[in-house]
Amino acid sequence: MSFSEGISDSAPGPTSSAAPNPSGRLSIPEIIRKKRDGENLQQDEIRYFVQAVTRRALQDGQIGAMLMAIRLQGMEPNEILALTREMATSGRILEWPEKWRGLLVDKHSTGGVGDKVSLPLVPALVACDCKVPMISGRGLGYTGGTLDKLESVPGFVVSQSPEQMKHILEAVGCCIVEQSQELVPADKVLYALRDVTATVDSLPLITGSIMSKKVAENISALVLDVKFGSAALYPTLESAQQLAQSLVSVGTQLKINTAAVLSRMDGPLGRRVGHSLEVLESLECLEGRGPEDLRELVTTLGGTLLWQCGRAGSLPEGTAHIARALDNGTALRTFQAMLQAQGVEADVARALCAGTEEQRLQVLRRAQAQEELVAQRGGTVQQILALPLARTLHGLGAGRTQKGQAINHRVGAELLVSVGQRVRKGSPWIRIHYESPALSDADRHSLQGALILEDSEPFAPSLKVVKTILPQTHPEMARRK
Ligand code: URA
Repeated sequence: MSFSEGISDSAPGPTSSAAPNPSGRLSIPEIIRKKRDGENLQQDEIRYFVQAVTRRALQDGQIGAMLMAIRLQGMEPNEILALTREMATSGRILEWPEKWRGLLVDKHSTGGVGDKVSLPLVPALVACDCKVPMISGRGLGYTGGTLDKLESVPGFVVSQSPEQMKHILEAVGCCIVEQSQELVPADKVLYALRDVTATVDSLPLITGSIMSKKVAENISALVLDVKFGSAALYPTLESAQQLAQSLVSVGTQLKINTAAVLSRMDGPLGRRVGHSLEVLESLECLEGRGPEDLRELVTTLGGTLLWQCGRAGSLPEGTAHIARALDNGTALRTFQAMLQAQGVEADVARALCAGTEEQRLQVLRRAQAQEELVAQRGGTVQQILALPLARTLHGLGAGRTQKGQAINHRVGAELLVSVGQRVRKGSPWIRIHYESPALSDADRHSLQGALILEDSEPFAPSLKVVKTILPQTHPEMARRK
């Protein structure tokens, strides 16, 4: 049966365990109705929906309705597993040479503000002898996407075929690419629609989206950075832990050695937010410099992965290997090679990776306007809230409100103060980079609300990582060891 034959616009039929219309065919409106009314979907219904999405046989309204039904009613673990499998097999599963067995690894984050970890981490893993075929995403809601950040580098091509990925992995060891017609096409469609239908923060949809990409990558080990806090998709540690358990459980059942790190996302990661500004900060991290919290996450996530795939005997040893790759320049050289392999001209990649700050800025280009805001009172910085900051930048053009909308890579913010530091009334605390629309009084007001000051002594900020969930062992993986 072809999809166009099988997809019916019929009115919903009576409640039953499957979702056929009177002709006995599965029916999309009936599948939506079942989920809307809180019923569990069967595997063939999930398959039918995902395959129809993949073939672009549904209207955006039907997909949006299904996403909202899943967002409101949730899914049982067996439905989430089926969703992940169907999304993964909506395209090709990548194939790799036997000699890379056990070396293919990846990391994925549930999304944050200023979260640029993948840019330094991926090449650092290659410097530690791993291969990383990362399929990543664009910004979701107010969170920034790795692909959007990389596209602020002129010439960088995120769309690569499986054959090109293999070639790049052979030559360089890593690539960072987008979903495509060949790679998790169902996620490409669902991801873009979730972004504009207020359905991003759904545990089954996040699990399906992240894990389908990782299954398609055909990797051995995965570490997940699951964020919690006021600017994360899940605000509390408990809710983020549930998401982490769902991700680890699906990964394990699909035979990926999966660990999760729970990290705080109340304030932005690092001191720069916005696509091209985050590339600049990533380059600092790749030079062994840059903000401590960024380095902490890069080394912890990388160290966990090196331990998972047996390239380090312990987590501290893994962390030290990643730190060395950042400090000795091997990760930076790999990043430069990856940029070139993905389309960036050699002199542009060189200016970015071996150039001065000024040369880097010439490549990435500054926004036309910058404005510094000053502290309205004195005090010690308790927190810099990422959410109002991200929402303001989104409104200034850093994010999308419509599917496929162009974004402005130069819009962003630089924090000029750190948590725990004392600031004086009238001293600058943030620099906003913008173009059109211009920064408004409402933006200034909401940004000022992000700086939380108190009359207390200066203090050292807490670490970002609060907990690591180590992999559950799948019986088949245990046998392989
Ligand atoms: N990253 C993804 O790929 N998907 C999500 O849903 C969230 C973060």
